[in-house]
Amino acid sequence: MVKVTVCGAAGGIGQPLSLLLKESPRITHLSLYDIVNTPGVAADLSHINTKSKVTGHVGNEQLKEAIEGSDVVVIPAGVPRKPGMTRDDLFKINAGIVRDLATAAAKYAPKAFMCIISNPVNSTVPIVAEVFKKHGVYDPRRIFGVTTLDIVRASTFVGELIGKDPKDVRCKIVGGHSGLTILPLLSQVPGSDTLSQEQIEKVTNRIQFGGDEVVKAKNGAGSATLSMAYAGARFALSIIEAAFFGKSIVECTYVQLDADKQGAQDTKRVIGNGIDYFSVPVELGPNGVESILPIGSLSAYEQSLFTKATAELKGNIAKGTNFVADSKL
Ligand code: 2OP
Repeated sequence: MVKVTVCGAAGGIGQPLSLLLKESPRITHLSLYDIVNTPGVAADLSHINTKSKVTGHVGNEQLKEAIEGSDVVVIPAGVPRKPGMTRDDLFKINAGIVRDLATAAAKYAPKAFMCIISNPVNSTVPIVAEVFKKHGVYDPRRIFGVTTLDIVRASTFVGELIGKDPKDVRCKIVGGHSGLTILPLLSQVPGSDTLSQEQIEKVTNRIQFGGDEVVKAKNGAGSATLSMAYAGARFALSIIEAAFFGKSIVECTYVQLDADKQGAQDTKRVIGNGIDYFSVPVELGPNGVESILPIGSLSAYEQSLFTKATAELKGNIAKGTNFVADSKL
């Protein structure tokens, strides 16, 4: 029995994400929560002939029944960017939304694997972690920032450049999930040695600011929803396969490095001591994070990107942590 709850299920990401999850034979109960419209989305999806039961829950008074006993909680809830906005500009609205959903999860599904999509992910993951700490149920191995869209974009953009099928291009991306904090390690991608330094810098920038490309093209109607849903579903299904069906799967994801003490030490030798959250390659298993895998070797250019990312990431993390410290919970 695998119960997955999508919080923000009626939104731009939530609907296609729920559709993709409904396709999975691994899920037995798909619980859809939002502040509006979930009964309609649930009725619609429930006609699809896969075995999962679909339930819709609307409004704060139905949040407990939505989330209770979940094995996986996916959170795409909140508002998206408009042109000219950074992900950090969403903090004011999304921080409170994520804090309240995390509070319900800490109370009613404390063992759930939490997959956080709501931006700014660099700050919302520390928010969820702090809420779980306040409730005495914190396990850093079970809380993840979904950075899979950066990896999906890298496969596509690099695949185009080196003439490979994008599905065969695996690029490690570490750091965070916004602009300069996104650190693609292209030097480790087989075939990337054919790229000039100029091409590497251009495609790195395109991966870092791929979200802005979509925000601009949507021209006020939001940010990436379909590709984000695809990436969110891929990550949630990876967790499900690893945690409940015995598969060992490696994904890059934004976690608190304490999730694996030895892995944290090795990572901190590369990134320095002052950063507690980082997207790293993680081996997923029954407990969530089984181990944090090495970042691997960096080119001089990648090393210079790290230096630029660190200050921004530290600020983002502190903002999330302080938000919960200042909240009455
Ligand atoms: C993106 O990268 C929405 O954060 C998401 O486009």
